[in-house]
Amino acid sequence: MVTVEHVTRSLAGFGLTRDDVVVAVGGGMVTDVAGFAAAVWHRGVAVVNVATSLLAMVDAAIGGKTAVNLPEGKNLIGAFWQPCGVICDTDALTTLPPRERRSGDGEMAKYHFLSGDDLDALPLDERVARCVEIKAAFVAADEREELGLGGAQGSRLGGAQDSRLGQGRALLNYGHTLAHALEIATGHALTHGEAVGIGLVYAAELAAALERIDAGRVAAHRAVVGGTYGLPMSIPEGVDTDQLLALMARDKKARDGLTFVLDGPRGVEVVAPIDPAVAGAALEAVR
Ligand SMILES: NC(=O)c1ccc[n+]([C@@H]2O[C@H](COP(=O)([O-])OP(=O)(O)OC[C@H]3O[C@@H](n4cnc5c(N)ncnc54)[C@H](O)[C@@H]3O)[C@@H](O)[C@H]2O)c1
Repeated sequence: MVTVEHVTRSLAGFGLTRDDVVVAVGGGMVTDVAGFAAAVWHRGVAVVNVATSLLAMVDAAIGGKTAVNLPEGKNLIGAFWQPCGVICDTDALTTLPPRERRSGDGEMAKYHFLSGDDLDALPLDERVARCVEIKAAFVAADEREELGLGGAQGSRLGGAQDSRLGQGRALLNYGHTLAHALEIATGHALTHGEAVGIGLVYAAELAAALERIDAGRVAAHRAVVGGTYGLPMSIPEGVDTDQLLALMARDKKARDGLTFVLDGPRGVEVVAPIDPAVAGAALEAVR
């Protein structure tokens, strides 16, 4: 919030008018802060995101969620404010530190299962473009994350069940229920992408335990997460099952007991309530 005051006072210093444009050049932290500053300056001026990290390219810069942190918590103040353009130049990724790259890799791995596409086959620039397209499709169907809880329809974008309306942005959270719990339980020793990798494999194991998918589909998750992206697939040692279950129960999707985004015969959908004993047993499959 201190940064937002600094940025908006700078906008005042420039004399930025409602006809001007804020250009955010950076990773997701920059596009979030600049996007929020643009949303509140003169009650909203145009913003263009120039994403320089992989995570910003495939996730943070797309979809119009802007937010800043307070000492009391992450993303507590924000606004939905769509950028009028997003630029992703993959040449920028050559200088990105490897762990920051992995943070984006986890989100990229997620898109393999939201779309049903063979993203492996695409070169990096086309894969980034396809991830942007997939996220934009979910956002267009549910700009303010109002849908998708309480049982959504399938989500194979571009396939026979390409019924995006009614699915909701919540599906973009695939793999994130365990990921967020792991980030907290490990004190952020894992990057977001590493945690999402483990979370995707866990979501597959849980879906298999619930007989929603077969062993081949679980193997496909492991092949993408561990094979294509080289992300970890096991919970770090010393992280307690009861702590993870308690953290997952506090997930923002949870309305009626443990709630997960899970793969299944109709594609990925929100499923609740999940029996804690089943969720706990599935954790053993990713240890
Ligand atoms: N608004 C959304 O929908 C949304 C979605 C996901 C994440 N986020 C937010 O995005 C942030 C994470 O984004 P991030 O992973 O880009 O992190 P980040 O913005 O913190 O960037 C990570 C690091 O990489 C550096 N960096 C960025 N681009 C670089 C480049 N081309 N070369 C060298 N270094 C570079 C940054 O300076 C920083 O040190 C979090 O704050 C998260 O809350 C927002």
